[in-house]
Amino acid sequence: MFESADFSIKPTLTGTRVVLRPFISEDLDAILTALRDPDVRRLTGSVHDDTTEITPEDPAETRRLRDWYATREAQPDRLDLAIVEVATARCVGEAVLNQWDPGNRSCNFRILIGPGGQGRGLGTEATRLIVGYGFETLGLHRISLEVYAFNPRARRSYEKAGFRPEGVLRESLRYGDRWIDATVMSILAREWAEHRGYPESAQPAGESGQAPRLQEVGDGGGDSGDGIGQVGRNREGGSPRRRHPVRR
Ligand SMILES: CC(C)(COP(=O)(O)OP(=O)(O)OC[C@H]1O[C@@H](n2cnc3c(N)ncnc32)[C@H](O)[C@@H]1OP(=O)(O)O)[C@@H](O)C(=O)NCCC(=O)NCCS
Repeated sequence: MFESADFSIKPTLTGTRVVLRPFISEDLDAILTALRDPDVRRLTGSVHDDTTEITPEDPAETRRLRDWYATREAQPDRLDLAIVEVATARCVGEAVLNQWDPGNRSCNFRILIGPGGQGRGLGTEATRLIVGYGFETLGLHRISLEVYAFNPRARRSYEKAGFRPEGVLRESLRYGDRWIDATVMSILAREWAEHRGYPESAQPAGESGQAPRLQEVGDGGGDSGDGIGQVGRNREGGSPRRRHPVRR
């Protein structure tokens, strides 16, 4: 049996388009901008209508969020990583494994990227990186998520990384005067081992759907250009690369 996952280690996961790493204080402005974006708030189910006001300069809320991100590195039972776009070296969002259930070796996954980073493949690559880490290093058996029916882009991104729909939570979100369904999606360790984030069924016609083979890990190789092969590079000995320690 796999030893208990060690969530206290906070890795840096390097892809082609994104790097996932622990938060640093310089990320705060970008992450606040993403969290306050009306569309992000709607798509993540953070609000119940599009009239909910947010006060950008609310000091108490800013303080709470600053504390939240400053303490992510100290969490022993979850993994919160900043998504940094390689091209700009800027934080564009976050990817999270939370709700860890050690007995069942399962976690919930959630992700958000601000408007400037969306629709360019960053989210799918970030998903592959953290899910790969969850299975290959943390030894998880199952990772699941929920996606609202009004978010086909997120659903497509999850499917491309290997999540499969498993059921519908009917009318689980009230938004404006509508009820919105949520789909539960999951991926299992054995499925990941088969395709490593590139399920045949979800690849556009003309692409091979092949993940880089394990021996290619470290070469930055692979035919997809998404850099998932580099997940393994950061898992030797589980040693985190704390290039940017959080300042408190
Ligand atoms: C969801 C999210 C992480 C996806 O990341 P992303 O970088 O924007 O997505 P990607 O570019 O990697 O992939 C999006 C895919 O969806 C497709 N897509 C975009 N809009 C779509 C739509 N309306 N219907 C169906 N597919 C759509 C894209 O074409 C792409 O698929 P393709 O590569 O096969 O063409 C990101 O958009 C995000 O954080 N959005 C705001 C918050 C959010 O929705 N969080 C998730 C809550 S469950």
